[in-house]
Amino acid sequence: MAAKVLVINEKGGVGKTTLSAHLAQEWCDQGHKVAIIDRDPQESITRWHQSRMTPRVGDWSDADIIVIDMPPAISEQSAAAIAAADIVLIPMTPSPLDVESTANMIEIIRAVKAENKCMLIINRVVSNTRMSKRIKSLDVDIKVANSTIGSRSDFIEAMTEHKVASEYNRNGKAAQEIKALSKEIIQTFFN
Ligand SMILES: Nc1ncnc2c1ncn2[C@@H]1O[C@H](COP(=O)(O)OP(=O)(O)O)[C@@H](O)[C@H]1O
Ligand SMILES: [Mg+2]
Repeated sequence: MAAKVLVINEKGGVGKTTLSAHLAQEWCDQGHKVAIIDRDPQESITRWHQSRMTPRVGDWSDADIIVIDMPPAISEQSAAAIAAADIVLIPMTPSPLDVESTANMIEIIRAVKAENKCMLIINRVVSNTRMSKRIKSLDVDIKVANSTIGSRSDFIEAMTEHKVASEYNRNGKAAQEIKALSKEIIQTFFN
């Protein structure tokens, strides 16, 4: 059975699609068979994927990790999707508005008792701001990834070229951060 990794936040622009693509390709590089399911009607990950060989999008027949890129909305299906997932990744940016809107997500997670399989990921960090420290010390019963992701043009430029950061700038900080985050997720949930 494939591990289902749900990438979800009702807020748009927090990095769901960017992280779905990058984590999926990183896990491919580590030897996994990874497929992405594009659940966003805007189909941004499908457009990014175009002529890529990996990760697969849509066809998850023999995948061992399935990454599900969710739309920026909370619907009746959100709770069911969270309940059905093995791992739930919740990207957010270190801004007060994101912290507020993530409170809704956290309520749903609690309602379906999914705290243990969830992880908040702080994305688009400008510097080690007080805000990201505040998130890390939030009094929630949900893990916050130690590996944060900086606000880096490599992510934007790579995705524009249908690439991931490690293909665009192999030794750049963006590539290093994704590597660290992907390992942290594996160590936290799969080991
Ligand atoms: N770490 C980052 N650094 C710089 N730009 C980012 C980063 N993460 C996301 N972006 C940019 O922010 C925008 C929204 O990201 P996206 O992944 O599409 O969010 P979502 O899927 O949550 O709506 C995109 O233009 C993307 O390139
Ligand atoms: Mg998206």
